[in-house]
Amino acid sequence: MRIKEIHIGKLKLKNNLVLSAMAGITNSAFRTLCAEGGAGLVTTEMVSCQSLKYRNRKSLKMLELSPMEHPVAVQIFGSEPQAMAQAALAAEDYGADIVDINASCPVKKIMRSGSGALLMKNPSLLSEIISRTTKLVKIPVTVKIRTGWNQNELLSPRLARIMEDSGASAVTVHARPVSMFHAGPVDYAGIEQTAKAVKLPVIGNGGVRTAADAEKIIATGCAGVAIGRAAVENPFVFRDIAMGIEERNLRQDMKEKIKLFLKFLSMNVELYGEPSGITKARKLAGFWLKGFPDSSYIRAMFMSAKTLQEAKDILVKYTDNYETN
Ligand SMILES: Cc1cc2nc3c(=O)[nH]c(=O)nc-3n(C[C@H](O)[C@H](O)[C@H](O)COP(=O)(O)O)c2cc1C
Repeated sequence: MRIKEIHIGKLKLKNNLVLSAMAGITNSAFRTLCAEGGAGLVTTEMVSCQSLKYRNRKSLKMLELSPMEHPVAVQIFGSEPQAMAQAALAAEDYGADIVDINASCPVKKIMRSGSGALLMKNPSLLSEIISRTTKLVKIPVTVKIRTGWNQNELLSPRLARIMEDSGASAVTVHARPVSMFHAGPVDYAGIEQTAKAVKLPVIGNGGVRTAADAEKIIATGCAGVAIGRAAVENPFVFRDIAMGIEERNLRQDMKEKIKLFLKFLSMNVELYGEPSGITKARKLAGFWLKGFPDSSYIRAMFMSAKTLQEAKDILVKYTDNYETN
């Protein structure tokens, strides 16, 4: 895999492997692990610009960054240009290195307010959001879009040009249409045409688990690769890809993965206290423990844990059990 430094605006990233934004997952504790695991840039969960406008406590907490996770992009969503620009300013004040505009989320609740992927249907509004935001903040502004709305429809090259003209510093393209959510084949030809259409760096996203997958995205002309679900199963996937390690033998790595999960849990407890730090990790447990022997049993056991000690007892007993078998 061709690992290289890339520039996003004035910001230099040590490599071109990016942790993709994931709601309910990419909190500060998780991002810190991914930064440690070799990501060149990590991205927050999407934060609502309207909630920030009304100084919602939970949304403000989402802007808090740890010194260990930089460089970090804060992703915001909304459809009101002024509120989006103000949200970006708040992110900059909290120490964000990049602000990323979500124009790719297919969830109905988000699109109902004209936000997320619906912005792809309103390029002039998206352009106004970008230009207002870039005028207000000093940090680079990036945008995440999809290749199209439906299969066999390619919108991203034209949209990327509009973003470039509006002042964006990079564009991430999730190479699946909005209608397919997060599933289905990756449209390599679509990202290739997008990368060709603009001078700014295009970060390709979709289905990357191994160095070979990342290489396929880079071969399209993309400057970098964004990784989502594979990082939730293995926050060190960035280092593995950089080193050319193909998929790991889960059974061999079980103990290491559990150790990492416990480290994550302890950081999460520091962030949210008990029991929230443990209960908020339930969504992640589903991904992290995927493929383990008796994974539904261990997941169900984990769901009953309320404290770090209970979680530790359950997970350590589980690994010891499999080691001796
Ligand atoms: C649970 C979950 C939450 C997600 N939340 C966001 C989000 O908040 N913002 C965003 O831009 N994409 C979000 N995504 C999409 C991912 O960033 C990524 O584009 C998608 O999973 C495809 O990449 P992958 O195939 O490497 O997982 C989410 C995906 C998942 C699975």
